[in-house]
Amino acid sequence: MTSDVNKQFIAKQIVVLGTGGTIAGKSASATDNVDYVASEVGIETLLAAIPSLGDAAGKASYGGCELLCEQVAQVDSKDMTFEVWQRLLERCTHWLAQPQVQGIVITHGTDTLEETAFFLHSVLKTHNFLSKPVVLTCAMRPSTAVAPDGPQNLLDALAVASSDQIQAVVAVCAGAIHSAVDVQKVHNYRLDAFSSGDAGALGYVKEGNLVVYRNLYQKNELKMPLSSVFTASAAINNIANLNFLPRVEIVLNHSGATGEVVLDLLAQRTATSFNKLAGIVVAATGNGTISQALERALQTAEAAGVVVWRSSRCAFGTLVGREATQFGDSGGLTPVKARIALMLSLIHH
Ligand code: SIN
Repeated sequence: MTSDVNKQFIAKQIVVLGTGGTIAGKSASATDNVDYVASEVGIETLLAAIPSLGDAAGKASYGGCELLCEQVAQVDSKDMTFEVWQRLLERCTHWLAQPQVQGIVITHGTDTLEETAFFLHSVLKTHNFLSKPVVLTCAMRPSTAVAPDGPQNLLDALAVASSDQIQAVVAVCAGAIHSAVDVQKVHNYRLDAFSSGDAGALGYVKEGNLVVYRNLYQKNELKMPLSSVFTASAAINNIANLNFLPRVEIVLNHSGATGEVVLDLLAQRTATSFNKLAGIVVAATGNGTISQALERALQTAEAAGVVVWRSSRCAFGTLVGREATQFGDSGGLTPVKARIALMLSLIHH
């Protein structure tokens, strides 16, 4: 009885972690949606700009949850670093372990949002932290725009973070909820800049209500031998190890690809170098095809101990019938996500 009564007084919280991006961007002119500086406005200011988030006492709240915020970084996401990932992971694990915390929202630049989302998802899932939502959100227009999209995206992200329906790392943009595994930025300008490809969005946010069409964990939607990633990333007991994520490069197949870029990478690789090349993800053409010259160079890399995974540079689809062929299979991950998966899977080496 006493504990039930006490429970009623534990205020739920949503933690909002700011990392920068266009959502925190400022432009000299309200009509300029392009020529702005990203990552200028602090997370508290972004929340304060949304009138509905203030309660009678002037405290920020959403749906009965108190809002706490922390500025984890202030970067244009093209400059995202392992150090910021490490700090984000540390703050996520800290807050997710607090019983009063209902969920986390992370504001992030759109350009590499899918990478941070996939990284957090891979590591947090390994450590069974995902009984609560971790929601990345963003904007395509700076905060100073005549009609900024950031405030609505933030409100939608808070709706997802306050809900019990999602227990995963997801991205919320333009009203759609995307899984961290499937989401990718597919447009450089439109407000609805993200897609989950053939898998489709998990659901949508409509006026603060979630419509969830599929649940991330009802079936195994991790489209690669991610068991190896999850097992390996369990090695991250000390998250400071993230500073030593193995070096993995992405190499593109294209008309006239000679493979020289791979041979140059191998030539730089000395046994002692700190960031010795450990892996290559080849962004192959079509259904995983690679020019003869690039293929030979990648075989040389493999023979030298570099792990090579094959992915496709096609925006959508997964490789068909390539699983048993030469080079590791990226399991349908895009090249940028396959790179993260390979880095995590190589931690032991
Ligand atoms: C960024 O990715 O930080 C800038 C671009 C954006 O957020 O749309």
